[in-house]
Amino acid sequence: MAVMTENIRGKYTIETMGCQMNERDSETMAGLLEEMGYRCADSGGYSEKAGRQDADLLLVNTCSVRENADKRFFGVLGQLKNIKERKPDTIIAVCGCMMQQQHIVDRIKEKYSWVDIVFGTHNIHELPDLLTNVRNEKKKVVDVWEDAGDIVEGLPSERKYRHKAFVNIMYGCDNFCTYCIVPYTRGRERSRRPEEILSEIETLVADGVREVMLLGQNVNSYKGINTTGEAVDFADLLEMIDCIEGLERLRFMTSHPKDLPDKLINKFQTLNTLTPSIHLPVQSGSTDVLRRMNRKYTKQEYLNLLERLRDASPNIVITTDFIVGFPGESEKDFEETMDLIEKAYFDSAFTFIYSVRKGTPAENFEDQVPEDIKHTRFNRMVRRLNEITFNKNEKYIGRIEEVLVEGESKKNSGDALMLSGRTSGGKLVNFEGSPDLIGQIISVRITDVNTFSFTGVRC
Ligand code: SAH
Ligand code: SF4
Ligand code: F3S
Repeated sequence: MAVMTENIRGKYTIETMGCQMNERDSETMAGLLEEMGYRCADSGGYSEKAGRQDADLLLVNTCSVRENADKRFFGVLGQLKNIKERKPDTIIAVCGCMMQQQHIVDRIKEKYSWVDIVFGTHNIHELPDLLTNVRNEKKKVVDVWEDAGDIVEGLPSERKYRHKAFVNIMYGCDNFCTYCIVPYTRGRERSRRPEEILSEIETLVADGVREVMLLGQNVNSYKGINTTGEAVDFADLLEMIDCIEGLERLRFMTSHPKDLPDKLINKFQTLNTLTPSIHLPVQSGSTDVLRRMNRKYTKQEYLNLLERLRDASPNIVITTDFIVGFPGESEKDFEETMDLIEKAYFDSAFTFIYSVRKGTPAENFEDQVPEDIKHTRFNRMVRRLNEITFNKNEKYIGRIEEVLVEGESKKNSGDALMLSGRTSGGKLVNFEGSPDLIGQIISVRITDVNTFSFTGVRC
């Protein structure tokens, strides 16, 4: 063991694409690498590509949710080739959701000879062994597990943020929305034991974490079993976490509208730490499109949910995702979505143009929507969604919000130091302040807003 650590004085970068699941996996992989003796190549953070030139190990954690993500990855691989040519000892490793697809792995093997290690989402804990093999035997390794295997607990982690942390409560997805690749890249739904989750959060809180974001593709279908064999659902889990001394804020994502019972909605009223915010992807406002997406709710059921959430928590910040241009989406379907936008009046929304994913049911659906129509609809939606976001944000002007200060603002340019943080509802606020405020929850009066952030003054 000592010899291995002695050998490894290397530097690494991890470039992370995709969602919080991947971000969390990258934290684990960074933890594993640090344990081996590797150090981050870039002082600004291991996920920055700025460190590429310096690194002995370049790791790319990929996403496959839309075609753009695939394209971006192959673009990055092209750039890494130059580095490999200049420094042939650099190890290039690729992992993540794209690697769970055979056609991608085949393409890498065939055309991207400078890649040394390929592994998947199910065996990130094997990274040290894979690296040791490549270093010692100087040959390439492709090791992608088709099935998930047991949940591996107790892996190290190099956290990206000091005062907030991601905690996985479950892995995988069983929903098989007809457009989505995730059930194929992340496997079947598996829930962690409640005791493991609680002890991870207790450790984080003892280490200065004040806000925890629970992660899962569909957190509200969490089905844990405790050590005495009893079932623990998501609402029960929230209640258990809420009792952890020292935890200030609890968030979760993502929730599926089909699994949002009153028992869970009521927790927004009763739990101290649960923040008034929910990301609740709707995808479309047309019940017919929703049926073909296999979403298992109607437009009206979704709107009823929003009403119940707002009854339980009047200031709740509700955000969503839309897919525009799903196969067969007619003008009438699209108008249903525009109507839902008016009725739902979201705080903000991500809108994605439908992208065909190989191996999903919708790949073979008829009536793929022409690109120009998708773009016209996309632009109309985004314009209206942004107007609504701005209207809602304007109502915050003059209000005093509790802000967890996360760090220096990206907007720093003038003389005074700008900090940034988030309100309990999750809105981004920039304000002037000194670095000792970082990690504290302070009161900020909102003085100005735009679509994506607020400006405020400390009060
Ligand atoms: N588990 C989460 C997130 C899944 S991926 C959920 O169920 O909501 C994040 C978002 O990407 C989805 O909500 C969806 O809006 C979008 N998305 C997924 N597959 C897509 C595809 N093939 N084309 C366009 N957008 C897609
Ligand atoms: Fe994809 Fe649907 Fe699962 Fe979300 S719930 S990850 S959109 S299959
Ligand atoms: Fe996330 Fe992309 Fe995988 S959205 S689960 S990293 S396909």
